[in-house]
Amino acid sequence: MTAINAVTDLTREGDIAVLTINSPPVNALSADVRTGLRDGVGQASADPAVKAIVVICAGRTFIAGADISEFGKPATGASLPELQGAIEGGPKPVIAAMHGTALGGGFEMALMCHYRVAVPSAKFGFPEIKLGLIPGAGGTQRLPRLSGVENALEVILSGTPFGAKQALEWGVIDALAEDRKLRESALAFARKVIDTRMPLRKIRDLNDKIEAARGRPEILDKVRREYARKYRGFEAWQAALRAVQAALDLPFDDGMKLERQLFLDLIPTAQSRAQRYVFFAERKVWKVADVPDDTPVLPVNKVGVIGAGTMGGGIAMNFLNAGIPVRIVETAQDALDRGIATIRRNYDNTAKKGRLTQADVQTRMGLLRADLKLDTLADCDLVIEAVYENMDIKKDVFGKLDKIAKPGAILASNTSYLNIDEIAAVTSRPDHVLGMHFFSPANVMRLLEVVRGEKTAKPVIATAMQLAKKIGKIGVLVGVCHGFVGNRMLHQRQREAQKLILEGAMPWDVDRVIYDFGLPMGPFAMSDLAGLDIGWSKETSKSSTIREILCEMGRRGQKTGAGFYDYDESRNAKPSALVEKIILDFAAKKGINRRTISDAEILERCIYPMINEGAKILEEEKAQRASDIDIVWINGYGWPVYRGGPMFYADLIGPGKVLAKLKEFEATMGEDFKPAPLLERLVAENKRFQDL
Ligand code: 3HC
Repeated sequence: MTAINAVTDLTREGDIAVLTINSPPVNALSADVRTGLRDGVGQASADPAVKAIVVICAGRTFIAGADISEFGKPATGASLPELQGAIEGGPKPVIAAMHGTALGGGFEMALMCHYRVAVPSAKFGFPEIKLGLIPGAGGTQRLPRLSGVENALEVILSGTPFGAKQALEWGVIDALAEDRKLRESALAFARKVIDTRMPLRKIRDLNDKIEAARGRPEILDKVRREYARKYRGFEAWQAALRAVQAALDLPFDDGMKLERQLFLDLIPTAQSRAQRYVFFAERKVWKVADVPDDTPVLPVNKVGVIGAGTMGGGIAMNFLNAGIPVRIVETAQDALDRGIATIRRNYDNTAKKGRLTQADVQTRMGLLRADLKLDTLADCDLVIEAVYENMDIKKDVFGKLDKIAKPGAILASNTSYLNIDEIAAVTSRPDHVLGMHFFSPANVMRLLEVVRGEKTAKPVIATAMQLAKKIGKIGVLVGVCHGFVGNRMLHQRQREAQKLILEGAMPWDVDRVIYDFGLPMGPFAMSDLAGLDIGWSKETSKSSTIREILCEMGRRGQKTGAGFYDYDESRNAKPSALVEKIILDFAAKKGINRRTISDAEILERCIYPMINEGAKILEEEKAQRASDIDIVWINGYGWPVYRGGPMFYADLIGPGKVLAKLKEFEATMGEDFKPAPLLERLVAENKRFQDL
């Protein structure tokens, strides 16, 4: 065995050279791996005793892509074009032997090889689009030559991996290896290549699938239409289309050049930087500073849910989907029946779309037990309360629950705002109480705020985080404060939005600016969707805000066909002349001199106070890191991933700029804009939120 470098070594099996890459955890195509590959293949090619070369990876996966942490840094080691020269341009057949996930640059490297063998469980794909990039080492030129243009576009634009069976069908792999016998199978395949003198097949020379698509612009037009909505605001997908178009229009080498240029141009863009930041942020979020990975977790084999309303039902579905039995409790039979019927309807709808079988629906419903008595929760390992948002009611429920739940059971509240410590204090087990704040619809939204109380025990936190992962959520650990991380920041935006419509903007102006920024909807469309009467009561309403006036008039949002907007039968929103008049009258009564408000001011007024609140949250240690706040906003509120979250956005435009604007607003509009001391400090020290 010869070590080529620290991460690659070369062995010989008769006349076959085996180049093994061993660069944990995922064999990313780092400078060392690229250099090892170039030199290893070079060395084997120069050895007269070698007739074929197998490239294989140790550990859990074949090369899972370029090393994302190297992007944007000065290039070192062998380049990707050099790799192509050594492998595809080399004199001997090179066979890629793949297992795990051959993604991005790893998959592209395999496509530079003359032949490919993979185990049945292997997956292939181009996730670059999710990083605001396109494949940069021939993926857009080679894959269409194997799979055809339509299939290649789907792989490149969706970023979703495909399996070995599909790969074999498309000719992406030449043979399936025997499970767990990849090395032997690849050696046998190499033997065949040598013995039958199989040619040095180069994908670059295959042209029939390209020919078939040439002169058919409708293929790309169709894809462009399909993805336009999904990628509203995103840049990289247009570059991907251009690169694939080049595979049709240009000679291979020119197509490669264009692809490389498009790829290199995307790397420094704000969008790609944001999306790469989010890739790492999503992985950091699971790490809790004082709860090490080896903290024991408590078994959760049965979950109780109190409340069968929209929230409770959605929460229950998460556990049913993961195969965990659920007991759901309500106070009245009709409410319970309605809740169960809604769960079933949701599942039936998913089944109708073909995303679940009827058997799956039966299995899930079979795991659900419904009851009117709290006592039935006695043997649950975790009970999540999702009742009406009122402290006295919650305390009453927790007091009772504490007496019923078995010792060691975890008691969680799904409250969106209330103080978990106060709730925990009514139980005999405050160390086993925490918040699990799901976002509506709870079976769909990926975010789960795991709220750590003052006394919550570490194993309880570890259990909740692990459970979040198990049910497919992204768990973000947050501290106790009003509204936790997400809603606390949202409050800032909602307050400014309400002020803006009195000062001069209309609800649809504010919504348009926020929508164009990339969020799925603006604050007023969101209020209409949620219902304006959440937290409103007829008894205490005194026409003191626009919202109160609208509620008093029965304009309570989409459900009543009118709110800030008018709605038609298909729930399409239209600006309302009546609401406009109400706003103008109200502002006049308050003596407000309305003025023209620019889009830039709308954006800054809505977003900068959120960033400021985020800084306060960090200072009070209610979130572990700025990137956790960003994960909350991306997964709970639809913040566009290409803007990286509010804190990353602040870093991008410069904390100094945010601070200066806040000060300017503070001077004219007061307290609401008072900068957080942390933001002041950051600017004084010339740092970013990412540096904290
Ligand atoms: N570069 C750098 N680090 C990477 C990486 C990559 N491509 N892929 C994974 N890692 C790191 C993760 O950050 C994580 O680090 P940590 O343990 O310190 O948190 C560790 O490897 C393990 O990753 P996961 O926790 O994600 O492990 P999983 O087993 O859940 O998933 C995976 C494995 C499917 C390979 C997943 O990591 C993944 O999807 N990776 C990214 C793949 C990708 O995007 N590749 C394309 C890169 S761009 C490219 O190739 C450009 C080319 O066209 C030129």
